[in-house]
Amino acid sequence: MCGIVCYIGPREAAPILLEGLKRLEYRGYDSAGLAVADGENTCLVKEVGKVSRLEEKAREAGPRGTMGIAHTRWATHGKPSVANAHPQTGENDKIFLVHNGIIENYLVLKEELKKEGHTFKSETDTEVLVHLIEEYYEGDLAAAVKKVLGVVRGTFGIALFHRDSPDRIVLARRGSPLILGIGKGEFLAASDVNALIRHTNQVIHLKDNELAVLNRHDYAISDFQDRLVVRETETVEWGADAADKKGYEHFMLKEIFEQPDAVENALRGRLLEGEGVSRLGGLEGVLDRLKSMERIHFVSCGSSYYAGLLARYVFEKITGFSVEVEYASEFRYRNLRLDEKTAVLAISQSGETADTLAAIREAKRKGALCLGLVNVVGSTIAKETEAGVYNHAGPEIGVASTKVFLSQCVVLTLMALLVGRYQRLSLTEGLFITRALKKLSGQLRRVLESAPRIEEIARRYARYDNYLYIGRLYNFPIAMEGALKLKEISYIHAEGYAAGEMKHGPISLIDPEFPTVAVVPRDSTYDKMINNIQEIKAREGKVVAVAVEEDEEIAGHVDEVIPVPRSIDILQPLINTIPLQLFAYYVARERGCDIDKPRNLAKSVTVE
Ligand code: M6R
Repeated sequence: MCGIVCYIGPREAAPILLEGLKRLEYRGYDSAGLAVADGENTCLVKEVGKVSRLEEKAREAGPRGTMGIAHTRWATHGKPSVANAHPQTGENDKIFLVHNGIIENYLVLKEELKKEGHTFKSETDTEVLVHLIEEYYEGDLAAAVKKVLGVVRGTFGIALFHRDSPDRIVLARRGSPLILGIGKGEFLAASDVNALIRHTNQVIHLKDNELAVLNRHDYAISDFQDRLVVRETETVEWGADAADKKGYEHFMLKEIFEQPDAVENALRGRLLEGEGVSRLGGLEGVLDRLKSMERIHFVSCGSSYYAGLLARYVFEKITGFSVEVEYASEFRYRNLRLDEKTAVLAISQSGETADTLAAIREAKRKGALCLGLVNVVGSTIAKETEAGVYNHAGPEIGVASTKVFLSQCVVLTLMALLVGRYQRLSLTEGLFITRALKKLSGQLRRVLESAPRIEEIARRYARYDNYLYIGRLYNFPIAMEGALKLKEISYIHAEGYAAGEMKHGPISLIDPEFPTVAVVPRDSTYDKMINNIQEIKAREGKVVAVAVEEDEEIAGHVDEVIPVPRSIDILQPLINTIPLQLFAYYVARERGCDIDKPRNLAKSVTVE
């Protein structure tokens, strides 16, 4: 959730670190800091709030030097403050360390260190790590780090240096990503490729329990048992401009408008149109096993969970699998049947979500076939699953997921199509789906044309403090996702509900100040949705409906209609998603919210 950037090479480090931090700010943004060394002196600058505030402070401090480490923090232990910001230093300010993750046994360790005379300046678990390293340090920083990492429990990605050897950065990882950037005559490291990509597209992902040492002229990777690791560099396939706003006011808006492309990228080369089936290269090695499964579990969090919820309906419709969807954070508490007849699919944009990773590890232990649907290439979930599929949606920077959510829904449909065609789905039905998929991106482009109309509605509706979102069948998960988008970025209380549940409780909330957003496609649920809407109107509740263009009846029942093109039932929810994203976006903008960096949230949730 926090971000790390490091640089060692011939150039001034501070501007590179600050620019890298800005690119990581979407991961956490309550405080930030950097330490830069010039061979003799080390300059430490830390500040509460966004990176721009750190930048101002750094301008005054003027850190000089060609090596440094930097961090942007999302508070876990201790409130956002200068003292708690990273880099953390030890007793004698010789070691400078940045840390992502959580040291679980830090309280016990802290007490022991205090007894030995250590005094602490912060409330962080990270500072304990620095003091411990100091204790073990006998002139070799990497050796001290290895010893300490045998003592601490928890997750970490760390980067540190010692004042006495300012030509060397040590990095280590367990459970929190770290990537080396191999430049021309310089080296970088970061917790996210975004921070490196302007300088190099040659990267190496550190694995768990590995340590790297960056020098001015080379680097070395080893495991915690001192065995040397030799690993090829990987080439990042997207350029720095993919992570720029390209003239949009916010990353979220840009990413909403990128959705037709994201869908095309998800489909590219994956549809065998004549056979009404899909081809997913990443699953080919396990296809025979997958076809013979009885059950599939989707595990994920947040929007990725809603993508799984939608996929449950689609898989049940077109495959023979029995399907379970579970929040990754709850998965481990259930006593599920996870055996060789069970596939578990982790759905994750970042591929680093701690709960999802933990769920996969649990499923593996029990013998299930573990698969991943991940956007970030080389991420931990991608590496720890036996097989999987990438979204190829490009980097998603806005904290609220938009294009990757839609892409997940598309890829999950492709997976269902692939399995379904070996099971109950006929050629005709397969062709019906592939043809509809081909038309999807064009239909999404048409929905985006109605952005001005949605903006106008959102402006009028931005004053309400509570919202209900309802839908049925395929559009129930979309109602949940729409409500999540609104609450994440506008801080408005919004509840997503299966419309049929309305009368079992939430209808009591409805009054003229409590509007409802209803997703009302022309499918088998239409009449029941109209009944729900009438029940809301009878209580003077306002209703904004997302409905298909051909629906001439809906306007007579609701206050506002957002018309969308019609698709087949299983794809209609994808089209319906866009108006809900735009509505949330424009409401949040009207309320002056920080859309790309909503309060308390981080893009990638790497702690459980
Ligand atoms: O990276 P992941 O897909 O695993 O992340 C899961 C959730 O943290 C994520 O979807 C979150 O809910 C987003 N902020 C939703 O907009």
